[in-house]
Amino acid sequence: MSLPNLAPIPELFVSYDSAQKLKHEAASLPSWDLTQRQICDLELLMNGGFYPLKGFMTEADYDGVVEKMRLADGSLWPIPITLDVSEKFAETVEPGQDIALRDAEGVILAILSVTDKWVPDKAREAEKVFGADDLAHPAVNYLHHTAGKVYLGGPITGIQPPVHYDFKARRDTPNELRALFRKLGWRKVVAFQTRNPLHRAHQELTFRAAREAQANLLIHPVVGMTKPGDVDHFTRVRCYEAVLDKYPASTTTMSLLNLAMRMAGPREAVWHGIIRRNHGCTHMIVGRDHAGPGKNSRGENFYGPYEAQELFRRHQAEIGIEMVDFKQMVYVQERAQYEPRDEVEDGATILDISGTELRRRLREGLEIPEWFSFPEVVAELRRRFPPRAQQGFTVFFTGLSGSGKSTIANALMVKLMEMGGRPVTLLDGDVVRKHLSSELGFSKEHRDLNIRRIGFVASEITKNGGIAICAPIAPYAATRRAVREMIEAFGAFIEVHVATSLEECERRDRKGLYKLAREGKIKEFTGISDPYEEPQNPELRVDTENVDVDHCAHQVILKLESMGLIKA
Ligand code: PPS
Repeated sequence: MSLPNLAPIPELFVSYDSAQKLKHEAASLPSWDLTQRQICDLELLMNGGFYPLKGFMTEADYDGVVEKMRLADGSLWPIPITLDVSEKFAETVEPGQDIALRDAEGVILAILSVTDKWVPDKAREAEKVFGADDLAHPAVNYLHHTAGKVYLGGPITGIQPPVHYDFKARRDTPNELRALFRKLGWRKVVAFQTRNPLHRAHQELTFRAAREAQANLLIHPVVGMTKPGDVDHFTRVRCYEAVLDKYPASTTTMSLLNLAMRMAGPREAVWHGIIRRNHGCTHMIVGRDHAGPGKNSRGENFYGPYEAQELFRRHQAEIGIEMVDFKQMVYVQERAQYEPRDEVEDGATILDISGTELRRRLREGLEIPEWFSFPEVVAELRRRFPPRAQQGFTVFFTGLSGSGKSTIANALMVKLMEMGGRPVTLLDGDVVRKHLSSELGFSKEHRDLNIRRIGFVASEITKNGGIAICAPIAPYAATRRAVREMIEAFGAFIEVHVATSLEECERRDRKGLYKLAREGKIKEFTGISDPYEEPQNPELRVDTENVDVDHCAHQVILKLESMGLIKA
């Protein structure tokens, strides 16, 4: 199946004229809007990155891949490349029919001639492909919670590649890379697969790997989908560009790969090898715990540290690419240089900074030494991950009507504005209901919608480095939890329970609403005829009885200081 590394590789695209014609005809076909992962898969199917696949897998190919890592014709392929769809859509499609595959904007990218439709046994797929039916594995979680219930398979007719607006000049198809290597006269090329920013140790190891193989080097980072929680590819690519300058001139190049990783460890390593072979590489660096998904639900590793290297080695000839062992590089203080771990004598001082420690130093604005990374890389990471005192956050007050949420929230806003530094936005219950949720009432459904809207706006503010102060009643714990999750993706969420008792709120009755509620003139009134679920573990609980507003707001300020969100 394998082709010489510099010969053109077959693609699934039709000619420009046929594509124009097909696009027109495809308008009347049933359409499937591709998910982000499917778009990544389709791009590599069409441009030859997944050669010898000619489309989304048929049931026979899928079964062979799941059970034995082999397509129905016997060739090696480790990961199912399937088109998962909803049951509802599947009902409208029968084998023998063509469907149009569209991107999120509705642009037709390809036609799938459906030959197979089946309901997969996802538990079996998880066990065989990923090693365990355990939701702690990101791909297993995706399989059960995101992927559709039905798979469609069949050959693809490629109309156009997915459009990318970012880093266009850095993206290459397999044939573009093959042509580049031909032009440069690079006969041997070592690929380095990565989903993380590169630091000095990586630069040393890749450079050595290329030298050992007497080859040129291709930094081939994945920019499609990586492990949830990874550094975004925009930041990473800026970091890679800085590192590229550190290699001797004309030895190294970089290209971005729009792959959706599965974090399948050993099987993924084999897959990465096939993909790099298709991109014209002759060697690939395979590391300890290659494409590892982290810990399983019992806190153990899913795969052994060298399983990926072992599986790769066993299939190396068939993959058609040579494995270069990843040598762990460590910094030896006495000699002020990086050396392979297994070559350092006992007693030497080895310095290292783990990923967790790096994140801590970024978060707290601490020093990141020159021996660890390049100043340009550190500057990019600091720009993306400013210290906590410069990050956005949300203070979310919750409590009964009349508990004092708005008053404290206003006082807090003014104090934060007095300090300066970050923009502050107050999303008060009443104000939101006037501008954002004017059509909503007080049913559970409407309250939840109202709170989710507040959560969305607050998450956008937090993402962009501002401070959002929210002050709705937010009576339901599950909805508050959902908002917390939305916000914690971007910054801190501080839930403040304004714990004024119902008796006190009713005694104050500042708006006269409790009286009306008691008389039955206002229905579904929180605390009277509607529930309020008290927060069990808020970051802060403030008592407003016998305490003035200024003091309550000050308590929040102290909490923010203790969390490192504002400087004392
Ligand atoms: S919720 O449940 O979070 O969506 O409520 P919220 O958007 O914060 O709106 C609360 C304010 O609306 C007034 N109001 C009511 N509150 C509770 N229940 C009912 N049925 C109701 N009808 C009107 C009330 O003035 C609330 O203002 P605050 O500032 O909380 O006192």
